[in-house]
Amino acid sequence: MIPALSVDTDSAEGEVTVPYYGSSPVGSPGRFNPLLLVLPLDGGDIDPIHLTHGRVRGAPSTPVLAPDGRVVVPLPSADAVVTVDVDARIEGALGLFDAPIEAETSLARPTSVSFDRNGDPWVFEADTRSATRFQGDRPTLSLTTTNQDLGQELELGRRLFQTAAESSLSTPGSGVACATCHIDGGTDNNVWPLDGGDRQTPALVSAVAPYTWTLQVDSIADEIHLTSVERMGGSGLTDEQADALAAWVDHLRPVDVPEQDADAVVRGEQVFSHAGCASCHPAPTYTNGMSYALFGLDAVDTPSLLGLDATAPYLHDGRAETLADVIDLSADAGIGSVRGLDDQERADLAAFLASLEEAD
Ligand code: HEC
Ligand code: HEC
Repeated sequence: MIPALSVDTDSAEGEVTVPYYGSSPVGSPGRFNPLLLVLPLDGGDIDPIHLTHGRVRGAPSTPVLAPDGRVVVPLPSADAVVTVDVDARIEGALGLFDAPIEAETSLARPTSVSFDRNGDPWVFEADTRSATRFQGDRPTLSLTTTNQDLGQELELGRRLFQTAAESSLSTPGSGVACATCHIDGGTDNNVWPLDGGDRQTPALVSAVAPYTWTLQVDSIADEIHLTSVERMGGSGLTDEQADALAAWVDHLRPVDVPEQDADAVVRGEQVFSHAGCASCHPAPTYTNGMSYALFGLDAVDTPSLLGLDATAPYLHDGRAETLADVIDLSADAGIGSVRGLDDQERADLAAFLASLEEAD
């Protein structure tokens, strides 16, 4: 499992803490564990600290070290910031360590915290796009950046997409929001153990029907119902909520892909068509919408190839780390005529694949 984010903080003891969300890497049950992993610099054992405080639970964003030596972690989907006393964990206990945690709630999706020279914390709240200074428990200064007016439906959709505090969408206290996995509408680059097997998170920014890897879901609205009710334990969205969430997913802007070498892309496009890739991945969506018996599944949908550069790992269970790996695996599996390609042609093909993006 890959950490949802991995910006580090040096603590006084020579440790680095990273936020983590997913199946615990160290002896913990459950799939959705919000953890702070304490990594000793000497390479010793990893200490996982549970970031749950009562019902306050959500995927952690970047932790920072407070002047008093505690670690402060924003939990955007829980509208909370928690403060963790890392040193107070129970020494010698097996498996999980619980440290005293305090929570500051009722923030509008806090995504980052920083301390000024007086040691006062500033919290950035993404929903209101404002930076607020706290002194004691009180906000004493708030600076708001220009806010884009999205209109009522998109504002509701954005809120629903980001929150873990809406029982129609997810089990209260589970800490799971759509944005937990589809960070900014993209992907957490993670592979999740779902009922049908391991499935990696597709980016939604270039989503093309049919949806999901294997279930041939026709519309985003149906996929939202499936995910929220059957997978996240929600009680069911109202029509207004479902429409707003679908409108938000539709509104997400395409991923940016870095410029590739133009000559390599042109050569790679020829390789793509000569190798028979376009029969299943025809432009402009780069999917024919059909499913095939591939990679151990009876039927896996042909995904769109738009925005690929931002969506590693690849294939339904994330078995390919890079596009070059997909090309190697396709050669082994006899998909397209890849086996005869030389190294240059494979590199060109990978450059072409990495260049594909949705038109604005
Ligand atoms: C635990 C991580 C996780 C959460 C939370 C989550 N998703 Fe997903 N999403 C996935 C995975 C994994 C798939 C692929 C599922 C499959 O193939 O069955 C997926 C597939 C999708 C797809 C289909 C994309 C495509 O191109 O096929 C859409 C749309 C989607 N999710 C939207 C949402 C929305 C909206 C929410 C919140 C209600 C949500 N997801 C919550 C992980 C997640
Ligand atoms: C017979 C139809 C078919 C052909 C031909 C085909 N593909 Fe695919 N492709 C698929 C299917 C189905 C998947 C999903 C497999 C999975 O997830 O396990 C896939 C997955 C991929 C992916 C991973 C996408 C992602 O988001 O993870 C890439 C990249 C890709 N194909 C590129 C190619 C290239 C390059 C060629 C030509 C060499 C090719 N494909 C030929 C059907 C095909």
